[in-house]
Parts: sequence; structure tokens; C-alpha cells
Amino acid sequence: MDLTSIKSVLDETPTNTTVTVAGWVRTFRNDRFIALNDGSTIHNLQCVIDQQQVDAATRARFTTSASVRCTGTIVESQGSGQRVEMQVKEVEVLGDSDPNAYPIQPKKHSLEFLRENAHLRFRTNTYSAIFRIRHQVSFGIHEYFSGQGYNYFHSPIITASDAEGAGEMFRVSTLDPKNPPLNDDGSVNWKEDFFGAESRLTVSGQLQAELAALALGKVYTFGPTFRAENSNTARHLAEFWMIEPEAAFLDLHGNMDLAEGLCKHLIARVLQHSADDLEFLDKRMAEEEKQKPQQQRSEMGLIERLKFVLEHPFERITYTDAIDILLRSKPYQKKQFQYPVEWGVDLQSEHERYLVEKHFKKPVIVTGYPAQVKAFYMRMNGPGDFGYTDKGATVAAMDVLFPGIGEIIGGSQREERLDVLEARMDAMGVPKDQMWWFLDTRRFGTVPHAGFGLGLERFVLFVTGMGNIRDVIPFPRTPKSAEF
Ligand code: 4AD
Ligand code: MG
Repeated sequence: MDLTSIKSVLDETPTNTTVTVAGWVRTFRNDRFIALNDGSTIHNLQCVIDQQQVDAATRARFTTSASVRCTGTIVESQGSGQRVEMQVKEVEVLGDSDPNAYPIQPKKHSLEFLRENAHLRFRTNTYSAIFRIRHQVSFGIHEYFSGQGYNYFHSPIITASDAEGAGEMFRVSTLDPKNPPLNDDGSVNWKEDFFGAESRLTVSGQLQAELAALALGKVYTFGPTFRAENSNTARHLAEFWMIEPEAAFLDLHGNMDLAEGLCKHLIARVLQHSADDLEFLDKRMAEEEKQKPQQQRSEMGLIERLKFVLEHPFERITYTDAIDILLRSKPYQKKQFQYPVEWGVDLQSEHERYLVEKHFKKPVIVTGYPAQVKAFYMRMNGPGDFGYTDKGATVAAMDVLFPGIGEIIGGSQREERLDVLEARMDAMGVPKDQMWWFLDTRRFGTVPHAGFGLGLERFVLFVTGMGNIRDVIPFPRTPKSAEF
């Protein structure tokens, strides 16, 4: 079947050419005009049926979401809105779609309804645009890192270590839960399990990426990541995709440059390659914003905001300064923050969004967090380091905060000094014996190094202007939900 994509028909096929297209019917009007979409673009091709050639019984089958193949001549469009249309010579229904049973009609459905029909939601303009953009972002990630000499490194999905020390992991086991082998003291004997040890789905590929970076120099991972946190928010998934670059001889400042460069590369790529989809989502977001009270409306449209972020340097501040700004803020003084603000406690999403949306009005990179709120592998700051303060121990962490979302990237310079790292692990109760392989990198040719993790879905949320993370991953996995 020699098919031409509707995108190329609309963009470049010369008139008077005969081509074959195939796709799904969006609408059929006046018993003559099929709006056909094949997913290659948000735009439909108008396929004009000659009623003399196509009998009424066949025409009755051009229902929403029926699949059809049309062969015909590309002619200048009579109507407005598109360059060309097709005068159909031959048409065949490939798969019928019963209009009384097909759930998605050509009208506006709620996102909740479409989530319940996640298997069919790709056939809507909104979701097809989102998933084409998700592709462009994914492709851009490889383009950016490969272009800078980073090697795509496949870290394992099953692991026996807990990289973030958060303990929110899914178990991987082949033992019979009703009848597991037991030790003498009645505890489960994991030695009998498939991997001979308690094993889980990874929360991060970072530790393995560090091993690789200390040999290949520059690596990045890009894969699924799992967290069994029971957070039912619009920004959390139990299964999400993370990109984790890790580079030897990179310090905190280089790490910030790398992160800012990545975000800007991806935004530029989407602006260039997804212009039609962005235009659609820009209008969609404008409609959504109208429903919100004036105060909560975003000051910029989607495309305007993307260009703004692209053109302005990200603000780089220390955690200590961030706390000062928050303590002086109106919402703090009016007691509008739900969570406490004081030196030593972690920033919550409401604080991050205040800094980004109200105070700086652009992306912000915060560094120098208190050691006690961050992971064991982050480098301990000393006098002279950016983020050092006499208020308490801080680490060379960096969180990149984005408007509308909050944290989009978390990373750090790593602790490369064996004695400091071991002391930190002891203090935080991280088992050194199980992590012998990680500590070996600090024993044999340790070097300063740094990296970060970008949450793919959080980034796609930002570039599409969507409000819920469940709408930017094909099949969301969240507490109590793993359908499809
Ligand atoms: O800040 P996190 O936990 O950092 C790490 O995992 C480090 N090991 C990364 C590194 O330095 N190599 O997660 C990184 C990012 C977050 O900023 C967020 O964008 C995303 O991953 N993320 C989630 N996205 C969706 N659902 C969740 N439950 C997420 N948890 C983290
Ligand atoms: Mg984080």
C-alpha cells in the first residue's frame, strides 16, 4: 500500500497529483466531505466524495473514527483554511465504527472522560498534539546530549539498591506471597528469591550512571522510573520517564549550564518542529484560562511563555536567599502558605511556584539546600562554595523550578571525597556494605562529577500547557490505577 501522509499532502504535494491516503474519519459533512486524519499532523485532509461514484450504503459507513483509504487527485481547496483538498476517485472503508457505540464524538469532551477512554483518546486533537510533541522532546533529548559527546547509557530497571534513600519502591519477586521461604527467625528468606536478594524497580539510574561517567566521561540515561509514593497530585506518577545526564569533571555551575541548555534546546526544537500542534494547544490553553478566576490566570499564552523562557537566562539563587524571599513575601505574611517556611525545611511546591511565578517571573535554579533534606550522594559545601552558609550544613544540590509546575529537574554535584561520603552515609543510615561498588569509584580514581534528573512528563506538561501529568503520558500509572 503506497500511502502518502496527510502532512505531506497538505504541505507539499503539487496539485493535479494522484495520491492515496488512509486514516480515520473525524467528520462527514453534507454527505460529501470527509475530514480525514492520519495522525501525521493535527490538520485534516478534506476528501471530497463524488456521490455518483460512491453509493449511499458506503457513504453511510463514513462515521466518526471509521478507517478509510482514499485515492484521488489533489486540487486547490475551494474552502478556506487549507491549501489543497482531494477529489476522491476511489474510496474503501477499512474498518467500520458504530456511531452508537463509539464513545468519542466530534465535540468537546472533558479530560476526565477522555482519561477513562485512554485507549481512544489519541484520536482527539488535544492528545495527538501532546504525543507528537512528546516525541519531539524525546528526540531532542538524544540530539542535545549526543551532540555534546554524551553516551546513551542503559541503566538497569531492576535493582537491589535504593538510590534516593526514599524507600518508596515497588518490589520485584517471584516468591509465592502466600507461602514464602522463611528464615529460622520467621522473616522472609530473600536468598531464595529470583535474584538472591530483595529487589525492586529502580527510582533512578543515577548510581549506575555515575559508574559509567567515571569511565566514559559523559553519559545520560533515558528510561522508565518507578516510585511507590502515594501522592495523588497532578504532578506525580508511579511510573514516569527520567533523563539523567552524568559527567566527570563537571562542577555545579557547569551542571546548571547543562540543565538550562537542555531546557532551551528542547523548547527551541518544539517551537520549530511542532508549530501547528503548539498553535492548537495555545488556543486550548487560552480557553481553559478564561474559566479561571482572574488572579489565577497565567500572564502569558503558551507560545509566548515558551519564547520568553527561551530568551531569558534562568535565575540562579541559593536556598538561603530563597528562604529570605519567602519570609518577606505577601503570602507568608498573610499566612497563605500551607507549609512552614524556615531555614532547614524543604521547599514545597507552593513555595517553588511563588518564587518562579510571582517573584522572579522566570525559571529559577535553587542551590545550596540544607544537607538534611537532600540525598546522601550530594557534595557537602565548604566556605567559598556557592550556597555555603553558616546557618547549617548545605550541599551542592540544584533544583530547576518552572512556572506552573515547580520542580522539573533535581540534581547536584556529587560527593567525590571518600571520607566525607562515608561519614554522610553513616549519618543517614545508608548501608555502606551493600554499596561497595558505588564507593569503589571514590576509591579508584575519583574525580569531581555532577549530573541531574529531568522528569520527562513534567517538561512535557510545561511545553503543552496541560495541567495534569496524567494527560502527557500515554497510559498513566497512579495509586489505584493501572488500566490499559
Ligand atoms: O529530584 P529527583 O528525585 O532526583 C533524582 O532522582 C536524582 N537521582 C536525579 C539525578 O541527579 N540524576 O527526580 C528528578 C526529577 C524531578 O525533578 C521530577 O521532574 C521528576 O524527576 N520526578 C517525577 N515525575 C513524575 N512523577 C514523580 N513521582 C516524580 N518524581 C520525580
Ligand atoms: Mg527532587
